[in-house]
Amino acid sequence: MFGIGKKKDFTATITNTGESFDVKGGINLLQAALNAGVKWPHDCRVGSCGSCRAIVKSGKIKELSDFAYVLDGEQLKAGMVLACQSRLQSDIEVEVDFDQGALS
Ligand code: FES
Repeated sequence: MFGIGKKKDFTATITNTGESFDVKGGINLLQAALNAGVKWPHDCRVGSCGSCRAIVKSGKIKELSDFAYVLDGEQLKAGMVLACQSRLQSDIEVEVDFDQGALS
């Protein structure tokens, strides 16, 4: 659909709830979670509010925009990402900030 060739599908697992869902190729992590019915916190969906933040425990993502505009150095060092601005490059395990502030 986008670009050349078919993008791969991966699986994301939320470590703090045990939920897993498929992330179809080319879809960002937040959109895949919402498609799967996960109540992932979010607001802007464009990488500016920080409410979709999560910590990657294992696996690789590609940043669609620079997280450093929203997340500070400590958060970045801890592996924090913005789900609405993350595309998977492997299966991943993430901890999601459902309580908004619990991970910061
Ligand atoms: S939903 Fe606002 S930064 Fe992701």
